[in-house]
Amino acid sequence: MLQRALQIVEDEGLHVAIIMDGNGRWAERRGLPRVAGHRAGGEAVRRVVEAAPDFGITTLTLYAFSSDNWRRPSREVWALLRLLHRYLRAETEKCVKHGVRVNFVGRRDRLPPPLRAEIEQAEAVTAGGRSLSLRIAVDYGARDAILRAAEKLRGEAAGEVTRERFAALLGEAINDCLPARDVDLLIRTGGEQRLSDFLLWESAYAELLFTAKMWPDFDREDLAATIGEFRARERRFGSLTQLVAG
Ligand code: IPE
Ligand code: IPE
Ligand code: MG
Repeated sequence: MLQRALQIVEDEGLHVAIIMDGNGRWAERRGLPRVAGHRAGGEAVRRVVEAAPDFGITTLTLYAFSSDNWRRPSREVWALLRLLHRYLRAETEKCVKHGVRVNFVGRRDRLPPPLRAEIEQAEAVTAGGRSLSLRIAVDYGARDAILRAAEKLRGEAAGEVTRERFAALLGEAINDCLPARDVDLLIRTGGEQRLSDFLLWESAYAELLFTAKMWPDFDREDLAATIGEFRARERRFGSLTQLVAG
């Protein structure tokens, strides 16, 4: 089982997940409105998406808007959603060209219909991408996703309750086309050391890496450094080093 899990990681490449935090503080420190930080954060997304395949990353999950972020002032919420819409419009073609498959994970029913349509369009035209699976988490909350998956499980007449089955239902619960995949490396920028309801099931054995850098300042070199630190860590999955390596 363990060997198989490791084999999958080897075959599939790395799943890196990023809590892109610190946009607001980045802007405030410059005397700019918070939304300027979100705009600069979009540039950091472009840099990281472009660099990811060079570091063996095949799945990149970015936390763009949490279900709890609806609590923010509506001006900021709508500015964020507008930026997201603009990002998609500007980047979809580039994603097709570079083999990036885009998927949105989270709830869709509360998003503005034009954004939803843009999301569906981006997912459809990038569906053939093979170099990177880019998952953008929007209106996402891990606990609610787990609850929705559990609800689906309860609705099933029969069948064994396995991790694999649950992972499949969790994928469905967040509108993903694939079962939930374990995270190898979880990065949070902005200095806070918490998960803020991100990928709780999938991060069971993720390596956690917190950096004080604000997200808009995060670049290719920072990604290289975090991947370097990840590679230097020893993952044991509850077993012993020699068994995992052998
Ligand atoms: C992260 O930056 C982006 C979102 C949560 C949408 P923040 O907006 O949380 O920035 P800080 O944490 O206030 O600096
Ligand atoms: C987490 O950041 C959500 C995103 C980065 C999208 P928050 O800034 O919302 O998290 P808290 O409030 O500091 O925990
Ligand atoms: Mg924050």
